[in-house]
Amino acid sequence: MHPFYVIKKFTIVGRKQCMSYEVRNLQMVKWVAEVAELCQPEKIHWCDGSQEEYDELCNQLVQSGTFKKLNQEKRPNSYLACSDPGDVARVEDRTFICSISKQDAGPTNNWMNPKEMKETLTKLFKGCMKGRTMYVIPFSMGPLGSPIAKIGVEISDSPYVAANMRIMTRMGKAVTDVLGDGEFVPCLHSVGAPLEPGQKDVPWPCNKEKYIVHFPEERSIWSYGSGYGGNALLGKKCLALRIASKIAKDEGWLAEHMLILGIESPKGEKTYLGAAFPSACGKTNLAMLVPPESFSKSGWKITTVGDDIAWIKPGPDGRLYAINPEYGFFGVAPGTSAKTNPNAMASCAGNSIFTNVALTPDGDVWWEGMTDEKPAHLTDWQGNPWTPDCGRNAAHPNSRFTSPAGQCPSIDPEWENPKGVPIGAFIFGGRRNDVIPLVYQSFNWNFGVYLAATMGSETTAAATGTVGNVRRDPFAMLPFCGYHVADYFAHWLQVGRTTPKPPRIFSVNWFRKDANGKFLWPGYGENMRILKWIVERVNGHAAAVESPLGWMPRYEDLDWTGLDDVSREQFYELMSVDRDVWKEEIVSHEELFVKMYDRLPKEFLHMRQLILSSLWRSPEHWEQFHRSAQGFGFND
Ligand code: GTP
Ligand code: SPV
Ligand code: MN
Repeated sequence: MHPFYVIKKFTIVGRKQCMSYEVRNLQMVKWVAEVAELCQPEKIHWCDGSQEEYDELCNQLVQSGTFKKLNQEKRPNSYLACSDPGDVARVEDRTFICSISKQDAGPTNNWMNPKEMKETLTKLFKGCMKGRTMYVIPFSMGPLGSPIAKIGVEISDSPYVAANMRIMTRMGKAVTDVLGDGEFVPCLHSVGAPLEPGQKDVPWPCNKEKYIVHFPEERSIWSYGSGYGGNALLGKKCLALRIASKIAKDEGWLAEHMLILGIESPKGEKTYLGAAFPSACGKTNLAMLVPPESFSKSGWKITTVGDDIAWIKPGPDGRLYAINPEYGFFGVAPGTSAKTNPNAMASCAGNSIFTNVALTPDGDVWWEGMTDEKPAHLTDWQGNPWTPDCGRNAAHPNSRFTSPAGQCPSIDPEWENPKGVPIGAFIFGGRRNDVIPLVYQSFNWNFGVYLAATMGSETTAAATGTVGNVRRDPFAMLPFCGYHVADYFAHWLQVGRTTPKPPRIFSVNWFRKDANGKFLWPGYGENMRILKWIVERVNGHAAAVESPLGWMPRYEDLDWTGLDDVSREQFYELMSVDRDVWKEEIVSHEELFVKMYDRLPKEFLHMRQLILSSLWRSPEHWEQFHRSAQGFGFND
C-alpha cells in the first residue's frame, strides 16, 4: 500500500509533508496519521537519517537559537545547546509505569490506571505541536537487522531530539526497510509548547508539567513536557530499559543499566564484563578505562562495547551474551578530562552535541574538571559571564556530550556483533563513602543477586531532587525497572538456575572515604588493578580469602606495580568490614524488603540470615580469620 494513499485517507491532507522515501508499514503510517490529527503540527518530517538531513537540522537549530555552532577548527561539526534551567535531568517523580494492575508496577514505580493516564495525556497532547514540525524518527536499538534488535518509532516535535537520536541510535530510512510490516514500539514525545500564529519560539521549549509514561503491556511510551536526555530520547531509558526489561522478563533475557567492556590479558585471553553502577557513578569512565602504564606495557588492554545499557541473552554454549543496543554515548561531561578519560575526550572531539556545558571565548566547550587550570572567562551554561571566582558552576553537574560510539578509540572490534560478547563476570558498584569494601566476589550467583538487589548509592545530579542521600538502588535499576522489582529479583535468580555457565558476580566501591572525607582509592585507570583480579578470579588464576561477605583479595593478591599511593594499611581500611556497621546495613535491607514482602523471593530472607550469622561469628573466629588474611581489617 502506498503511504501517501493511507495518509490521505486519514486526513493529514493539507499538512505539509517532507518524505523522501516510502514506508510500507501500515501500522506506522496509521499511527503517524492519528498522532498528527491529535497534535496538529504544522509540518511532518519523516527522518531519513542522512548526513544532509542532520546538517540541515543543525542549521535550523542554530537559526532558532537552540544550538550554537562551535569553533570548526577546535570542535568540528559540533554544537552546544543550553536547556531551560528547569529541564536539566530525568524527572523520576514524573515517571510512570502504567501496567493494567498496580501490583505489576511494584513499590518502586509511580503508577496510574492506564485508561485514566491515556485520558490525561490525550488532553495534554491535543494541539500540543501547533506551529511546530513533527519529526517521525524510525530507530533501531541494536545493530540493524540483528535478531535481537528492537525497532521503535519516535514521533517528536523537537529537532534537538531528532539530531540526538541520529547519534544515539541507528536511525532513518534503513530502519523502515528492515521493519517491513513488523512490529515497532511507538514512542510519542512532545516538549509541550505549541506556538500560536506569529508567536516567537524560545531556544529551549518545554513545559513545567511533565509526564514520562510507559504502557508495558501495550509496549508504548508517551513523554510530555521535557526535551532533556532520558526524558526525551525515548530509545534509551524508556525503551531499552523500562519497556525492554519487561520484554526480557517475558522472554527469558536481561535488559540492564550496565556498561560492557573487554579485557585482554598479555596471553591474549579475552574476558568481557558487564558492570552496573547508578547514574553518574562511573560507567563511562570504567567502560573506557586506560590501564596504568605498567599494565599496558605488559600487554593488558581494555576495549569498550557500551557505556550505559546491556541486553543480555543466553547463548548456545551455556554462557550469557551481551549487546549494546545504543549507537552513541550520552556521557556526563563534568569530571571528564584527558587524565580521567582520554577515550571519552577523543569520542567527543567532533561530530558531537554538548548540552549545558560552558562556552569558551574562542567557541569551544569547557566543564568543571576538564583542565587543571580554570579558564579566565567563560559563558556559563545559563548564558551568563563566568569567572573562576564567581562561585557558580560553569557547566551544569548533569551536563552531557552526545557522541558517536564509533569515534571511541577503545571501541571493541566486536561492538556491533549481533550475537553479542560472552560475559565472564558482572560487577555491581554504588557510590558509598563507607560500609562497602573496595571489592569482593560473592560466594555464588544467588548471593550475587542478593548483593546487587541490596546495593545502595548516594543520589547524583542525573535525576532532579536532593543529591548525596544514600538510597537503595537495586541493580542500579531503581528508576529503570519496568515492572515489580521483586519479580525482577526472582527473574535474576531464575536466569542463574537456567544458565549452565553463569558469570561470576562481584561488588566494588570506588567511592569509600577516610575520616576527613578524602577518597581512599585513586580510582579511574587504577581500577584496572581490581579488574585484573576479577578476570583472574573468573579464569581461575587469582587467590582470595573467605570473608563474611564473600571472597576478597589480600594486599598481595593485587598487582601494585607502578602505584605507590596506596599503602597496605590504606588497602585494609578500604577493605574493612565493620561488624556493627554491617549489622545496621543488614537491618536496613529489611526496609527495602518490607515494601515488597508479598513477592520477595524466599531465598532473600535466608541469605540475609546467612550473612548475619557469619558476621556474628565468635571473636576467636574473627581473630583467626584476621591472621589468615594477614592483616585484614575486620573490626570487631
Ligand atoms: P549515566 O550516564 O548517568 O548512567 O552515568 P555513568 O555511570 O556513565 O556516569 P559517569 O561514568 O560519567 O560518572 C561520572 C562521575 O563518576 C563523575 O563524578 C566522576 O568523577 C565519577 N567517577 C568515575 N570513575 C570514578 C572513580 O574511579 N573514582 C571516583 N572517585 N569517581 C569516579
Ligand atoms: C542516566 O541518568 O542514567 C543516564 C542519562 O544515562 S539519561 O539518558 O538522561 O537518563
Ligand atoms: Mn544511565
